[in-house]
Amino acid sequence: MSSTRRVAVLPGDGVGPEVTRAAVLVLEAAAEVFDLRIRPEEHPVGWAAVQADEDPLPASTLAACTDADAVFLGAVGHPDAVGVSPEKRPEAGLLRLRTELRCYTNLRPLRLPDTLIGVSPLREERIRGVDLVIVRELAGGLYYGTPRGVETREGERSAHNTLRYGASEIRRVARAAFRLAEGRGRRLLSVDKSNVLETSRLWREVVEEVALEHPTVALEHMLIDRAALELVLRPNTFDVILTENLFGDILSDEVAGVAGSLGLLPSASLGDGTPLFEPVHGSAPALAGEGTANPVGAILSMAMLLEHALDAPEAARAVGRAVEECFASGLRTADLAGPGEKVVGTDAFAKAAVQIIATEG
Ligand code: NAD
Ligand code: IPM
Ligand code: MN
Repeated sequence: MSSTRRVAVLPGDGVGPEVTRAAVLVLEAAAEVFDLRIRPEEHPVGWAAVQADEDPLPASTLAACTDADAVFLGAVGHPDAVGVSPEKRPEAGLLRLRTELRCYTNLRPLRLPDTLIGVSPLREERIRGVDLVIVRELAGGLYYGTPRGVETREGERSAHNTLRYGASEIRRVARAAFRLAEGRGRRLLSVDKSNVLETSRLWREVVEEVALEHPTVALEHMLIDRAALELVLRPNTFDVILTENLFGDILSDEVAGVAGSLGLLPSASLGDGTPLFEPVHGSAPALAGEGTANPVGAILSMAMLLEHALDAPEAARAVGRAVEECFASGLRTADLAGPGEKVVGTDAFAKAAVQIIATEG
């Protein structure tokens, strides 16, 4: 049997703890069936950590994450945090965690099973067979560029951020995207705003250079506004979409909207340190404590953790199949249910997935 693998579990805020509980139940079921030794350990992050410790990423949490084999995070963000100093914002803790763990490649896949086609706001022929991955640059761009700040300029309130990309930052995430495309449909779309931005022109140049290392992948470029349009009109024609940090943040919520719910999308953040796994959605304050949040984004993030961090691809596939079987048997959380369809809560969905995984043993 393999050595015990440490998973730092950071539930965070709002619906974070609810979807995290669901995903950990599934992880434990998969560990049992596939004979994996896993030790999940919880640590505070986000507004929950500010309340206890005045810091959205306490040193003890960061140390546990650095030492772990993988980190799972539920969500951060709280309405009460609006107006606190920038470094105490829950989101600042998450952004710091991503850089401390040197995660620069963020994978945000969407594959919609046929049983969920009716959940999408799009007509069937547009959404059927959608199977794409957004590769979002996660460590640079406007999120981190300096100088940044607020000031008074000519008697007026003013604020500024800096958009800067170095060629090496673009190259490393582009290489990850090309390698991913080589294992999928061999088509890569790089999205930028090169008709306006210098950073985007450099982005395009570097992506072209990296393409020479991957001659079997067909590369195309598209401007971000057109890409936003095409994702709604023809989502099932995309394979791998590579883009910078802010564009990737926005396009991934759009992709979730095209699928029908933000609760469906998982993510994996990979780089040179401990990998980080989190659903794409946030803390959804309006749903917090209701037990109704969709746990699928979190559960599928746990599947990505099994695949990318724990070398357990079979267990990862079993989790994916269990989610699909839940959908096939008609289980729908509130965000997915149509008129007259029976609704299950977060825990009930997770327990059904656990049952299915257990029968594989
Ligand atoms: P959000 O993702 O929390 O919610 C957007 C919409 O999707 C809401 O209608 C919400 O009810 C719904 N939703 C989200 N998750 C769902 C789920 N699992 N099941 C069903 N419905 C779900 O985005 P927001 O409202 O813009 O932001 C709220 C807070 O979350 C903010 O503080 C923001 O900074 C934070 N946030 C955190 C993360 C993260 O931790 N990774 C990601 C996005 C937003
Ligand atoms: C996401 C979130 C985060 C981001 C926020 C909470 C900092 O929106 O993971 O998509 O913008 O990266
Ligand atoms: Mn986002």
